Amino acid sequence: MMEYIGATGAPVTFDLVPVEEGIDFHFILSFAIDADLSGNAQNGKFSPYWAETLTPDSVAAIKARRSNVKVLASLAGWSLRDKVIRWYDPTDPHLWVSNAFSSLKSPATTYHLDGIDIDYEKFPTQRNYTTFAFCIGQLITLLKNQSVISVATIAPYHLTAVPYIELFKDYNNVIDYVNHQFYTDKVLTPLRYLEDFKIRALQFDKNKLLPSYEVNGRGIQGDEFFATLSLLEQHGFEVNGVMIFSADASSAAANNYYYERKSQEFLLNTTNV
Ligand SMILES: *[C@@H]1O[C@H](CO)[C@@H](O)[C@H](O)[C@H]1NC(C)=O
Ligand SMILES: *[C@@H]1O[C@H](CO)[C@@H](O)[C@H](O)[C@H]1NC(C)=O
Ligand SMILES: *[C@@H]1O[C@H](CO)[C@@H](O)[C@H](O)[C@H]1NC(C)=O
Repeated sequence: MMEYIGATGAPVTFDLVPVEEGIDFHFILSFAIDADLSGNAQNGKFSPYWAETLTPDSVAAIKARRSNVKVLASLAGWSLRDKVIRWYDPTDPHLWVSNAFSSLKSPATTYHLDGIDIDYEKFPTQRNYTTFAFCIGQLITLLKNQSVISVATIAPYHLTAVPYIELFKDYNNVIDYVNHQFYTDKVLTPLRYLEDFKIRALQFDKNKLLPSYEVNGRGIQGDEFFATLSLLEQHGFEVNGVMIFSADASSAAANNYYYERKSQEFLLNTTNV
């Protein structure tokens, strides 16, 4: 299970999100950004910009209470306030990797992080993202090699498939899950979701690819999502997890975290967790 949390700046907490025993539950702190407060790129030096309520102590507390909880930091995201965050090819990729590694090492310790998620959403036109796969792949490899993290996930969407396919092709051995943002594909029925899933399964690895749901958002909504999960299973795909965006939306939805509860129930019903 994957749940993004902290992107809106609203005072969300881990405490209210239902976490079932027997589920590998990943909270994804949104976001750590290679930018200063004004949104200027810092050559690989990441800073945490998730909701201030998600403190190191609160991470420690939820992990102490639920031993099946893992916490990841997602890199980049769409924007820092109104400034859109873009991938840029650094002039010295090795220095970028080294800066990124050093800047993530300390929050990884402070926040007791288990991993990182990659969520760059905006790339330069003219295909000038030639160092993306190298920089991100090397960064994950180094963080894992030095035992700073144990989990790495990536979050492509339809407009960013190309750079993420490149990254996955070269570094899939260090990438554990693909949090494809199916809701951006805006498929509205289980059958069309299945067709979409088949396409993404060819681009990435079907066993690492997780179906995803945006609470009060785009794409399929309501119980049709769970009909989709069953349909995927009927067509031979193992549903090895579910990604939900986001705890912020769920906490505002006043539906008692319906999608988090039912997704975990679905996963516990299947034997794939
Ligand atoms: C993209 O990269 C090419 C070759 O490295 C360069 O000539 C071109 O100016 C770059 N374009 C942009 C928009 O940065
Ligand atoms: C880290 O990399 C070194 C050198 O390639 C290798 O010998 C070692 O086994 C790696 N350690 C881990 C934990 O992957
Ligand atoms: C889980 O299994 C129970 C018992 O078969 C069933 O009633 C329930 O609807 C299932 N839940 C989901 C989300 O599939």
